[in-house]
Amino acid sequence: MSQLLLCGQTLEITGNPMRAPHGDVCRHDPRGGVLIEDGRIAALGDAAALRAAHPDAEVVDLGDALILPGFVDAHAHFAQTRIIASWGKRLIDWLNSYTFPEEMRFADPSYAAGIAEAYFDLTLAQGTTTVCSYGTVHPESVDAYFEAARARGLRALCGKTCMDRNAPDGLRDDAQTAHDQSAALLARWHGVDRLSYVITPRFSPTSTRAQLEAMGALYAAHPDCLMQTHLSEQTDEIAWVAELFPETRDYLDTYERAGLLGPTALFGHAIHLTARERDRMAEVGAALVHCPTSNTFIGSGLFDMGGLAGTHRIGLATDTGGGSSFSMLRTMAAAYEVAQLGGRPLHPSELLWLATRGSAEALHLGDRIGTLAVGMEADLVALDLGSTPAIAQRAARASDIWEAVFPTIMMGDDRAVAGVWVAGARVVGTA
Ligand code: GUN
Ligand code: ZN
Repeated sequence: MSQLLLCGQTLEITGNPMRAPHGDVCRHDPRGGVLIEDGRIAALGDAAALRAAHPDAEVVDLGDALILPGFVDAHAHFAQTRIIASWGKRLIDWLNSYTFPEEMRFADPSYAAGIAEAYFDLTLAQGTTTVCSYGTVHPESVDAYFEAARARGLRALCGKTCMDRNAPDGLRDDAQTAHDQSAALLARWHGVDRLSYVITPRFSPTSTRAQLEAMGALYAAHPDCLMQTHLSEQTDEIAWVAELFPETRDYLDTYERAGLLGPTALFGHAIHLTARERDRMAEVGAALVHCPTSNTFIGSGLFDMGGLAGTHRIGLATDTGGGSSFSMLRTMAAAYEVAQLGGRPLHPSELLWLATRGSAEALHLGDRIGTLAVGMEADLVALDLGSTPAIAQRAARASDIWEAVFPTIMMGDDRAVAGVWVAGARVVGTA
């Protein structure tokens, strides 16, 4: 069996630094090694000791680069790749002006395939090895995403975005077709290679009660599937939901009544929450997905990381293309800045945890990806901690790994990504 040994700095985050002192749950090795065999991490430890113990392993010496688990983006819309950074609109106008016209194009399978390829090229270059994405209403968009992910050997998640009202002709399904097309895609893709299907009603304004209930029935029939949707992103969206669903207690209740609230549910944004919504999601163990560049870019609001991190399952995400970046480094920087506005400076260990293990746990994949640990799938990124003159001059003053990595978190981009491995195979950078 051939073995690959990556040598560099390593950082193991063994527990949640939001809930334990980072010194207790993080282990940094300035000359560490990651031994990969058969697509998984086979050993971790001192590089010299691993070299001695595995003399036949192919060695890739990454110098001072920091080897981490590949980044995990817990909420994105790959179909919005071409409309990222579109100017001047808030959520509902942004959807109508930019998003829906672009999503129409995915009726053409060759367009969908081209964007899926471009999307994975962009995200892998940023060190992201798993994305949980929305498709469009077209089943072909989900096929395109999974085919591109499968060809690259990626662990990837996606679902057909279901909408049966308040969306233009050509982007609407109905309760029955949403159910049946989702069920067919689930049967085709869920559990194939490293792929997972995610039941995906877009959000309550674009689904009738009947459609949410049909999605709830599908979710109940497939308890091993995740469900993803949007929740309480903007205040006028919340007011609209109250008008559309006068019988409900709050926005979360529109999902809860339809059977869409469960421990494997993912709620993107979750900014403007009532006390009941917060308590209920903690009680159920549902995940909240923080999308900080999107929340500032579309003008949505500030996620309450300080108030939620101790009690809720939280993932981190770009929300491309409402989010203004494909980069999880940029996303961590935005999470830091937003939390600062809430009086809670996030430690680099917390930011890195959110972008790796936190998101993996939100996706219920924490036993496979998101951590440097023996047995985990070898999806890895190596970061150059001095990738630009501005970063290098700051990192040169660092007195520990946290000071060394923080300038890259705050100022880094794809130039910091020295290498990316998917199931042990290098896909970015050269030896
Ligand atoms: N709410 C419903 N759909 C979307 C979307 O595509 N992006 C964002 N940011 N919010 C949404
Ligand atoms: Zn979204």
